Amino acid sequence: MRTNYLFYLLIVFWSLMLSCQKIEKVNNNNREIIRLTDQWEFQYNDTLDQQWETVTVPHDWAISMPFDQEVDKQAVIVLEDGERVPKVRTGRTGALPHIGKGFYKKSLYFTQEDQQKKIFIQFDGAMSHAKVYLNKQYVGTWPYGYSSFEFELTPHIQFNQDNLLEVHLENKSLSSRWYPGAGIYREVRIVKTNPIYVKNWGTYITTPQITASKGNVNIKTSLQNRTAQNQNIELIQSIFFKNQRVSTSTKSIKLDQNDNEIEMNLVVDTPQWWSIETPNLYKVITEVVVGDEIVDIYESQFGFRTIEFTNNDGFFLNGKPLKFKGVCLHHDLGPLGAAHNLSAWKHRLLKLKEMGANAIRSTHNPSDPSLVQLADEMGFLFIAEAFDEWEIPKTENGYNTLWHDWAEKDLVALMHRDRNHPSLIMWSIGNEIREQNDPNGAKNAQFLTDIVHREDPTRPSTAGFNNFKGAIKNGLADAVDIPGWNYKPQKYEAFHKDHPEWKMYGSETASTVSSRGEYFFPAKEAKHKIRPNLHSNSFDMDFPNWAQTPDREFKAQEKNDFIMGEFVWTGYDYLGEPTPYNEQWPTKSSYFGIIDLAGIPKDRFYLYKSHWSEEKVLHLLPHWNWKEGQTVSVHCYTNYDKAELFLNGKSLGIRTKDASQLYDSYRLRWDDIVYQKGELKVVALDKKGNILAEEVKYTAGSPVALQVELDRNQVAANGEEVVYATISVVDKEGVLCPRANNLIHFEVKGEGQLRGVGNGDPTSLESFVDHKRKAFNGKCVAILQSSKDAGNIILKVSSDGLESKEITVNTLSLM
Ligand code: GAL
Repeated sequence: MRTNYLFYLLIVFWSLMLSCQKIEKVNNNNREIIRLTDQWEFQYNDTLDQQWETVTVPHDWAISMPFDQEVDKQAVIVLEDGERVPKVRTGRTGALPHIGKGFYKKSLYFTQEDQQKKIFIQFDGAMSHAKVYLNKQYVGTWPYGYSSFEFELTPHIQFNQDNLLEVHLENKSLSSRWYPGAGIYREVRIVKTNPIYVKNWGTYITTPQITASKGNVNIKTSLQNRTAQNQNIELIQSIFFKNQRVSTSTKSIKLDQNDNEIEMNLVVDTPQWWSIETPNLYKVITEVVVGDEIVDIYESQFGFRTIEFTNNDGFFLNGKPLKFKGVCLHHDLGPLGAAHNLSAWKHRLLKLKEMGANAIRSTHNPSDPSLVQLADEMGFLFIAEAFDEWEIPKTENGYNTLWHDWAEKDLVALMHRDRNHPSLIMWSIGNEIREQNDPNGAKNAQFLTDIVHREDPTRPSTAGFNNFKGAIKNGLADAVDIPGWNYKPQKYEAFHKDHPEWKMYGSETASTVSSRGEYFFPAKEAKHKIRPNLHSNSFDMDFPNWAQTPDREFKAQEKNDFIMGEFVWTGYDYLGEPTPYNEQWPTKSSYFGIIDLAGIPKDRFYLYKSHWSEEKVLHLLPHWNWKEGQTVSVHCYTNYDKAELFLNGKSLGIRTKDASQLYDSYRLRWDDIVYQKGELKVVALDKKGNILAEEVKYTAGSPVALQVELDRNQVAANGEEVVYATISVVDKEGVLCPRANNLIHFEVKGEGQLRGVGNGDPTSLESFVDHKRKAFNGKCVAILQSSKDAGNIILKVSSDGLESKEITVNTLSLM
């Protein structure tokens, strides 16, 4: 045992030596990357008497402010929703004060040695119309709030002293269809390089041929030589798998003083494929060597995988058929607003994985760069989308105002940033673009598709079309490689018949609306139903005019094998667009999510899970607290074929899946049940009647205590990671009180802080940053964030008249 261990250590040491060889041999004078997170000063609008507030970045200035129905009230005709006259929409963009100007400043110190360097500032995104200044000198502007961008600071720097960095932002009213967030809401960093360096996003890695025994890797590297003369350099490319160097190659080149693109080909033996189940990633370390000095080291990542899109048989990953079980995601994080947080996204994606989702469409704009990185690491396919609007406005001050000057730059920025990711399978050039209706609309589509082909010939262009007649007649569907259809399950067959060469998928599906824990009887399809309490049915049969239930899309996907799969609108609820209650106040967040705004799964989660995942699901709804004698419906979302329902021990009958009836294909249903309090039990049965599983709902008594469930109880002590604590109001037996709306108080001590609170109620105007929150249908969420010191975060939850609860999270310095 001991000898084995020593041998293992020796091997590890030896491989480390091998992998570090080149880097140690020479003097390493590499690039420096400094994240700018702390000690930013912020001011909202330029009222001179206002104090500057110290904030950390990522920062969303609006999320902590009160809701106000006057913010960005939009009297607009939303053609996409079938409207023909203007309607006043409150809450369309979240009713939080994201409109206006935001000013940020920060002091940056550069040393004497920095004078030898080229110094850049990189923004993963800033909302919006960013203008950057250093020492009062204009550095640059990037208006599209979702794009990542870089400016060079070198000419404006004063060395050996403090420099004043200023970032001015402005969000205009009528510029969005959802909550865009406000501020420097993604990461910012300073990068210092030597005068010879790899450009930002300067490697493009493709895998032209992959077999079981060999993977060919092509690496194009963009190098800059900013010295006064041509330079002889060595470019070393090394490929690593799990920290082992698996391939390396060196090229000697003379760099002139222009942009230099250097192409190299490497081979990896027995490549480990990237797939949904085995998301294997390879690292490329690019070293630039001048004489005996490494002047730059640049890290990139790629994976070995093949993608194939077919017109008849759907999509293939690594030669195997795979249906997209996808969700669309907007960029906000509910109670955290648009402020990016990596661990919150990880939390979200884990939940989606648990549901069986295998794909993400980043709607309708470039995501944070870490989202596609998480997709790489966790095994999701990814559609990167650039635009929701081109030249023809959907909103007066929307992207149409930028189209002419910025469309190419924004698309190229997205593609250069993300094109090495194996999870990324398509570039979406637009969503429900109004040019669909324009006889010249195909021109813009072709312009963008040409950019896609130029910048990344390995992936197709796509777009989400809602207006199928226009998109087909005006040639837009032909101007993308893969037409995506928004809400057209009933048309798949006809599209395929008329255009057998098209490769297609449901780019946006369902748009079912529901509020967690709100049930309306009888459970039946309801189109654009306005209910007096401003909630939608958790039986998942409410949908707006253009939309459908999940079941309809499931059926269409099953019937039409050639369809590559679907992207449900949406995985998570988001801020803004409170359809169908767009004109009603107070509503300010969506009802579309499979998971609510606070991160709590709605019933729909289990419907998708039962259809998408391999795991067995037996999920009973509704809750069991009704009026005695009331007629209720009971559904069971399950992938068992057959089940029997019992009320207080008495059988209410067996139901079996019936593929000939839409709603009996994916659910088991009992209608017209006369409610009696007590115990409702569903028992899954096999063909012979043997019991396979059971699930029970009990009638809850009055609220007595609080329960707390953590998504994890250890986090990194880095001042950034978050933990989700879900609080449930329960009776004396521990049964969830399904209508409880008790006000819960949060007290946080130790090495952390309360970062946000939420309850998933789209009609709630309570603050996301308060130390209290009402439960919505028995539950609410507190999001805790670690400090930079290791220790414990202690959360105490309490509520008048209820037993309080205390829970501890460990924060660790080494994670
Ligand atoms: C689509 C649109 C989405 C969202 C959705 C709601 O038409 O692309 O952004 O508005 O409808 O159903």
